[in-house]
Amino acid sequence: MHLAALLFASALSVGTLALDNGVMRTPPMGWLAWERFRCDINCENDPKNCISENLFIDMADRLAEDGWRELGYVYVNIDDCWSSMERDAKGRLQADPKRFPGGIHKLARYMHDRGLKLGIYGDMGTHTCGGYPGTTLDKIQIDAQTFADWEVDMFKFDGCYSNATEQEKGYPLMSKALNATGRPIGYSCSWPAYQGGLPPKVNYTLLGQICNLWRNYGDIQDSWDSVLNIVDWFFENQDVLIPAAGPGRWNDPDMLVVGDFGLSMDQSRSQMALWAIMAAPLFMSNDLRTISSGARTILQNKMAISINQDPMGIQGRRIVKEKTGIEVFWRPLLKNASALVFFSRRNDMPYRYQTNLGKLNYTFGSYKIFDVFTDKTMTLKDTTDFVVSVNPTGVVMWYVSAPAKRNLRQKFRQTILQNKHWTVETDKGSLRKNK
Ligand code: GLA
Repeated sequence: MHLAALLFASALSVGTLALDNGVMRTPPMGWLAWERFRCDINCENDPKNCISENLFIDMADRLAEDGWRELGYVYVNIDDCWSSMERDAKGRLQADPKRFPGGIHKLARYMHDRGLKLGIYGDMGTHTCGGYPGTTLDKIQIDAQTFADWEVDMFKFDGCYSNATEQEKGYPLMSKALNATGRPIGYSCSWPAYQGGLPPKVNYTLLGQICNLWRNYGDIQDSWDSVLNIVDWFFENQDVLIPAAGPGRWNDPDMLVVGDFGLSMDQSRSQMALWAIMAAPLFMSNDLRTISSGARTILQNKMAISINQDPMGIQGRRIVKEKTGIEVFWRPLLKNASALVFFSRRNDMPYRYQTNLGKLNYTFGSYKIFDVFTDKTMTLKDTTDFVVSVNPTGVVMWYVSAPAKRNLRQKFRQTILQNKHWTVETDKGSLRKNK
């Protein structure tokens, strides 16, 4: 680290320090195999859908050719079940030779040639969660070096078959080992998920210093129940989680399941909107070869992505929880802008929710509103009541511009309102002397 950077870093509070590998200043985006393709290694019966180099090549081609890469979806991440059951003669992990005949290095090259990145998976216990060889403490250095030699760009370190003491040693050790290779490798730690996700067991200050992202909670499944369960946990614990996040260090509520089988279009918009509010990594786990145009439109929504990718990297929060089942989420964005999400937990019919920006803590002013999923725009004063119609399990998402500077009439009105001798006709801005 340069001296200036060091001074700057030490001037910040400890909670704002991030892993010093320079990567993932905004939440990483891409594709991850696990939720959709699991540990399907049955290539004889299902060559198109098994965990093999063909699957990752197919997904890379889709990312590069169908407009995903340009939007920021650049990681192609291998999860469990990629390796051979045996290490090689030199003690290194090796890919299953039948399913990955070209090997991982060649796959990484394939990604890099297309402006994409490759992620890989390991586990700091005796075995991965799927029963493949693990990276016990004594293997950390050699495995980190192997991944760097293969020119891998991201590494997810799972925690099955390890205990708390081993994790406490292993996660920081892997961080050092990856840094020592000299290759910037985004580091995803599952550590907090194995320790209940909350202090005092989980030290988010430390995590921010050693990992770029971390799984805090259980695995996502292809269902609305699962998405809702994750959303609830993350927002119930928002006061602990929000300060942990920032450029280079992200809470990871797990993959996007938009484009799979379990979510309706409204629920898909909800997942996209809430993941954007949470500054969550956007790893899709779906089949990009067959994805519906509806799901693609949601995942490729530029405004939702730019909210997710806001350079300030401040994780948003739930600000309203109504008895009616309506909840409002807010995230501050660059240049005094913000995002709002109105979410309905209801199951009956679209709910007409009435409020105003003032009630949502917005200060005096006039705001330009951009509706993320309908592209409609409007202008709202902080005091103007509005109604949003929110579908069951759905959202309305807004990008809210910085408040416009008060115009002369407003300034004039404010001054004069304080004067006992004058009355203001507010809507016309004209004055009348008091009798
Ligand atoms: C754990 C992780 C998942 C996935 C599987 C693979 O359950 O949390 O994300 O990596 O292991 O076996």
